[in-house]
Amino acid sequence: MVDFDGKVVIITGGALGMGRAAAHEFAKSGAAVVVADIDDEAGERNVRRMHDESQNGLFVRADVSDACDCRGVVEAAVAAFGGVDILFNNAGIQPPDSYLNVEDTSEETWDRITGVNLKAHFLMSKYTIPEMRKRGGGVIINNASVQGLQSQPLVPAYAASKGGVLSLTRQMALDYASEGIRVVAICPGTIDTEMVRTVAAQEGGDIAQTLARYGAGHPIGRIGQGGDIAALVLFLASDAASFMTGTHVVIDGGLMAMGAWAGGAGAATEDD
Ligand SMILES: NC(=O)c1ccc[n+]([C@@H]2O[C@H](COP(=O)([O-])OP(=O)(O)OC[C@H]3O[C@@H](n4cnc5c(N)ncnc54)[C@H](O)[C@@H]3O)[C@@H](O)[C@H]2O)c1
Repeated sequence: MVDFDGKVVIITGGALGMGRAAAHEFAKSGAAVVVADIDDEAGERNVRRMHDESQNGLFVRADVSDACDCRGVVEAAVAAFGGVDILFNNAGIQPPDSYLNVEDTSEETWDRITGVNLKAHFLMSKYTIPEMRKRGGGVIINNASVQGLQSQPLVPAYAASKGGVLSLTRQMALDYASEGIRVVAICPGTIDTEMVRTVAAQEGGDIAQTLARYGAGHPIGRIGQGGDIAALVLFLASDAASFMTGTHVVIDGGLMAMGAWAGGAGAATEDD
C-alpha cells in the first residue's frame, strides 16, 4: 500500500461508485480526502465512516458543472487541510433517458452531460492547479471511459464528453509538465456502480443476471468493481507513476482488446 500521509486529495463524485471506492482507499492510505458531490446524504455518510475509522475527510456539497461550486471546493480543501496535491476528476452522468441520436437530443441534455462530464474537469483543474503549484506539483486523474475510445449507438453527448476528457488530459499534461503537475486519464469498462445498476434496472428483470450478462461480454468474464478502479487511481497518483503523464490507462477486463467480429452470436468464423 502506498503511503499518502500528508497528501490532500479532492474527489469529485466521491459520494458513490468509483469515487467512493477511491475516497476510502486514499483515506486508508493516510490522505486527507475532500469528497465533492451533489448527493449530501451519501457524501456525509462516507466522511462519517472515514472519521469513525480515524481518517481525515471532508464533504463539500458541490455541483461540479458550476464554476462557483468548484472554486468553493478548492477553497474548502485549502481551509481544512492547507492545500491540494491530487485531484480525481471523477463525477459523471449518463442519464437513462439520454440514449438518443443527435436529432432527438435536446440542447439541455447535451449541456447537462457535457457540463458534468467535461466542463467540470476543466473547472476543477482550473481552480486546483494554482494550489498544486504552491506545493511544487501534483497529479490530476481524469475519469474518461472506454467510450472515449470507441462508442455504442445513441450516446452522442456522453461519447463526445469522454473523447473531450482524453484531449483535455493530453493538453493539460503538456501545459503543466514543466511544473511537476502530471495529468492522466483512466478508461474504465463496465464497473459495478450505481450508474451501471440504474442502466441495468431500465432493462427490467433481475439486476444480478443483467450484470452477469454484462460481465460475460468482458473477456475476463466479470464486470469491474470500485476497488479495481481505486487501485489504479492510487497507483497513478503515486510516485511509482512519476514518468506517466498525458496518457490514458484502459481498465476494462479486456473489452477493448476484442474486435466486434470476435466470438459471440453471429460472429464470422473461418468456416463461413
Ligand atoms: N460505471 C461504469 O461502468 C463506468 C464506465 C466508464 C466510465 N465511467 C465514468 O466513471 C465516473 C464515475 O462513474 P460511477 O459509475 O461511479 O457513477 P455513479 O453514478 O455511481 O457515481 C457518480 C457520482 O457523481 C455524483 N455526481 C453526479 N453529478 C454530479 C455533479 N453535477 N456534481 C457533483 N457530483 C455529481 C453522483 O452524486 C455520484 O455520487 C463517471 O465519470 C462515469 O462516466 C463509469
